[in-house]
Amino acid sequence: MSGEILHAIANIFRPTSTPAESISGLSMLVLAVCLAIFVAVSGVLVVTLVRFRLRKDDDGLEPAQAYGSTQVEIAWTVIPILIVVVLTMATARVVSEVQNKQAPPGALHATVVGHQWWWEIRYPELGIVTANELHVPRSDPARPRPTFLRLESVDVAHSFWVPQLAGKTDVIPNHPNSMWMDPRVEGTFLGNCAEFCGLQHANMLLRVVVQSPEDFEKWVAEQKQTARRDHPGQDLFVSFSCINCHAVSGTPAAGSFGPDLSHLMSRRTLGAGVIPNTEANLRRWIKEPQTVKPGNLMPNMQLNEHELDQVVAYLASLK
Ligand code: CUA
Repeated sequence: MSGEILHAIANIFRPTSTPAESISGLSMLVLAVCLAIFVAVSGVLVVTLVRFRLRKDDDGLEPAQAYGSTQVEIAWTVIPILIVVVLTMATARVVSEVQNKQAPPGALHATVVGHQWWWEIRYPELGIVTANELHVPRSDPARPRPTFLRLESVDVAHSFWVPQLAGKTDVIPNHPNSMWMDPRVEGTFLGNCAEFCGLQHANMLLRVVVQSPEDFEKWVAEQKQTARRDHPGQDLFVSFSCINCHAVSGTPAAGSFGPDLSHLMSRRTLGAGVIPNTEANLRRWIKEPQTVKPGNLMPNMQLNEHELDQVVAYLASLK
């Protein structure tokens, strides 16, 4: 993908999709209300401190005590109730707007499966399986094409969060959740897992690539192709137990515990964002997966240098 625009800072205050906009708007309302309360309370505090500070000519007597002002009591009961009611209603509105949205005809559907510590991404209607990079088409307000995600987990609870596109949604075993986004700006948006899920929780990074409808269709066509099968390293690769965990379309490799490798080199990173996906890093990853990302489920296959060369060359051919 050429000319990639990377939105490097996942800024919740710069939403580019409807759910994220609704949430950001609500955050601004809550912040404004809290700011007003803060200014009022600290203003009264400062006035009190200055006006009633201890003076040299203080007579040392206790000031006049006042008990039971109905007006003051009504005011400090009613005002907080009104604030809470307003915030509750605004929140309920945003929650229902975000959660109750039904997928319109023509929406894109994808399934995101959380793993320790990477994201499996499936497009059941398109027959595509990939990892850690969710590709979605830009959704023009005139011709909306939102993406609806089904969120699943195969192990522990994770949380899917791409701040500029949508809110956080937990990814829970045996309890599919859903979320949607309709990004209007192209480029790569960064996200991460937002629920502590073990040793490499912080290295479970996510990239959402928002493409023009044409570029998205191009990507779909490339991903749907069977993996390249003419590389001399293929026979060696499928002779190893790599294929128990990884799949490469059109070969005996059909494992599903690890990421699908059919179009490995179309992805930008290895190990869910731990290192850039280059041939040198690929070699490092296969040789010492536990050094690159300690605790991950990829074992060291103990390949010798020759085998490593062959396997890396083969995997690097999987565009
Ligand atoms: Cu997955 Cu934290």
